[in-house]
Amino acid sequence: MDGNGRWAKERSLPRIEGHRRGVESVRAVVRTAGEAGVGFLTLYAFSQENWSRPRLEVQALMRLLGQFLKSEIRELQENNVQLHAIGNLDDLPGGVRRVLDGARRETSGNTGLRLILALSYGSRQEIVRAVRLMAAEAREGRLDPEKVDEACVAAHLYTKDYPDPDLLIRTSDEMRISNFLLWQISYAELVVTPVLWPDFGREHFLEALREYGRRHRRFGGI
Ligand code: IPE
Ligand code: MG
Repeated sequence: MDGNGRWAKERSLPRIEGHRRGVESVRAVVRTAGEAGVGFLTLYAFSQENWSRPRLEVQALMRLLGQFLKSEIRELQENNVQLHAIGNLDDLPGGVRRVLDGARRETSGNTGLRLILALSYGSRQEIVRAVRLMAAEAREGRLDPEKVDEACVAAHLYTKDYPDPDLLIRTSDEMRISNFLLWQISYAELVVTPVLWPDFGREHFLEALREYGRRHRRFGGI
């Protein structure tokens, strides 16, 4: 979800206004994904690298995240959305962590869209963590190094319970992945749109799904 800062700058507004408007886009996209029958939607809300932003912007983003989780819980329930999170969640401020855990618990019985928030998430860090977990299991004799295969690696990632993404949507015209689900997107279809995240809504999401529908996926075959 990129382009909040540029959206604000174009309007001579503070960056936080872009983030605030970005929350509206999240609302619209989550609702649309649920209606469209999408099974899993992962939103890259805050990267590991985003911690390096100015302290005030980080604080504002964390405050927005906490507010979003509180204000959206009813909407999530009404739309049968099950909330999940991936990333180094221990890095989150205590208050945010608590509302997040509460929202995950409260929505755990829902059976519709799985909404996965990537928070304090970095893909390389996730892979390093998986390697460390596997090494520890091997040391304790619980994992035979010879048995390490793709499924074993995948089972040690934060995403172990989710399928690989079929589609990756990148807003604001950036042609880079920025440390997002590097392992998992091996065969994802990419849709890059110039639309800035605060302007991205229902129609843009549906258009990305239609674009996905026009792709011929060959997975290395012919
Ligand atoms: C939102 O967009 C991404 C978040 C960290 C929430 P940016 O803040 O990266 O916006 P740009 O790239 O400055 O336009
Ligand atoms: Mg950006």
